[in-house]
Amino acid sequence: MRKLSERVGTFTDSVIRRMTRISDAHGAINLSQGFPDFDPPAEMLERLSQVAHEGPHQYSITFGAKNLRDAIASKYNKATGLDTNPDTQIIVTCGSTEAMICAMMTVCNPGDKVIVFSPFYENYGADAILSGADPIYVPLVPPEYDFDPVCLEQGFQEGAKALVLCNPSNPCGKVFTKEELTVIADLAKKYDAYVITDEVYEHMVYAPSVHTIIASLPGMAERTITCNSLSKTFSATGWRLGYMIGPKDVIEAAKKVHDFLTVGAPAPLQEAAVAGLNLGEKYYEDLNRLYTQKRDYFLQGLDEIGLKHNIPQGTYFVLVDISEFLALPQFKGWTDLEFCEWMIKEIGVAAVPGSSFFKEPVYHLIRLHFARQKETIDKALRRLQKLKKILD
Ligand SMILES: Cc1ncc(COP(=O)(O)O)c(C=O)c1O
Repeated sequence: MRKLSERVGTFTDSVIRRMTRISDAHGAINLSQGFPDFDPPAEMLERLSQVAHEGPHQYSITFGAKNLRDAIASKYNKATGLDTNPDTQIIVTCGSTEAMICAMMTVCNPGDKVIVFSPFYENYGADAILSGADPIYVPLVPPEYDFDPVCLEQGFQEGAKALVLCNPSNPCGKVFTKEELTVIADLAKKYDAYVITDEVYEHMVYAPSVHTIIASLPGMAERTITCNSLSKTFSATGWRLGYMIGPKDVIEAAKKVHDFLTVGAPAPLQEAAVAGLNLGEKYYEDLNRLYTQKRDYFLQGLDEIGLKHNIPQGTYFVLVDISEFLALPQFKGWTDLEFCEWMIKEIGVAAVPGSSFFKEPVYHLIRLHFARQKETIDKALRRLQKLKKILD
């Protein structure tokens, strides 16, 4: 047989999603792939059951049902103070996943350079390869995961056409401050670059951190493509609903990419999702309170076990430092992936090896998430206690 494309030889399947499959095969508690074990709001589910009988069951308008785009525009305009036109500036996509690759394919020619902060959500590596873009990695430096503006400017000086931003940031939980976003924005304007931003964790932000949508900064709406999703905000990762928002000319071009990639997002689910977006501010406040409690509870549990970890300002991820384990004779020479596989089998908890998020050689971190009901978190923490015994 003839060889497959060189493209598919240059990246692996998603390590995050692979960990879920291994976790399921061993009956472990899955704290690897980030999705909640609780349902979307009742209003969305009720509407979905009506829609099952009433429709729509056929294609929606390719760039999204009008009522969903209207609801998205209303939420976004309230948050940003912008006057986004739902007919010309929004595309409903199959998750933020499609929005991001669609944005990259719309902006980039093969060989164009794109700045990506490291650590980064692993999809961006594959997005760059699939769109032909050449990533320039700029480190986010622990423990604060801040960046060096000089290093960032070098990326723009090398000719970056776009910068990929994940805010709040998976996996390190960083929420970029307004000052940091202003540095990025000023450089994007100075070097005439686009910003492609993934903001799926916008409502999982822990006080005193505050989330700023970079498109709301002066002069940024015209060069920013904001990608977002209903997956995390409405506990509906399986619905595959997301969206991208940008300047009219960019969105007009992106509509073509989206149309030929997917035709459109699932029509019945778009209809049911409107009920979620209509819930209003209180829903987002309650969600934020829920995740704040979960974060505090999970971190306290890790502290009691004695596991070292970062303190996420946003998202529902925690990076746990496994250096102490890797220094023990029984783990000598192990990679973080081997450690995660061992954890699934012997501890019964699934994590993601940190190396799948870093460009730099970082092998001493694993990522856990706490988007789980309290009973599941308790059970996971009890299992993680077994790790402490190994250190004792
Ligand atoms: C930063 C980030 N972006 C996008 C996604 C996927 O979002 P969606 O379900 O909307 O495709 C995830 C899922 O974990 C994520 O962490």
